[in-house]
Amino acid sequence: MKKNKILVIHGPNLHLLGAREPDIYGKATLEDIDRELKVRAKKNDFTIEAIQSNSESEIIEKITNTAYDFLIINPAAYTHTSVAIRDALLGVDKPVIEVHLSNIYKREEFRKKSLISDVVLGVISGLGKQSYLLALDAARDFLNKKS
Ligand code: DQA
Repeated sequence: MKKNKILVIHGPNLHLLGAREPDIYGKATLEDIDRELKVRAKKNDFTIEAIQSNSESEIIEKITNTAYDFLIINPAAYTHTSVAIRDALLGVDKPVIEVHLSNIYKREEFRKKSLISDVVLGVISGLGKQSYLLALDAARDFLNKKS
């Protein structure tokens, strides 16, 4: 049987994790997070592709190239600005979880508005790298229920 594939997209500036505002985003690097996601994915027998991009157009290309079964996305700053990413998500109609390391509702006013929250399956915000790991568990349960 074909393995389910989960695509993980990390948006702009997340390549700086570990060094970037560690009081807000934690000390884990993006490599640490991806490594843990891959270990968990392997245990659960699904494949994972994780990418980081600072480019809105590259993120849209990834979302609309529909070779995946589930999407976990942290659009980072594009969360608050990108109608184009929202439209891409609507265009492919895949199950999606929106993830944030920080609690966006506890921060500046402009971060409290996500342009994608109302078009995704769920949102996990504020639990650091655990936000991603919980999203992966939820994706696994969703896909197992489906098959
Ligand atoms: C973020 C929150 C965004 O507001 C911010 O622009 C980011 C990271 C988070 O994971 O907490 O770059 O998405």
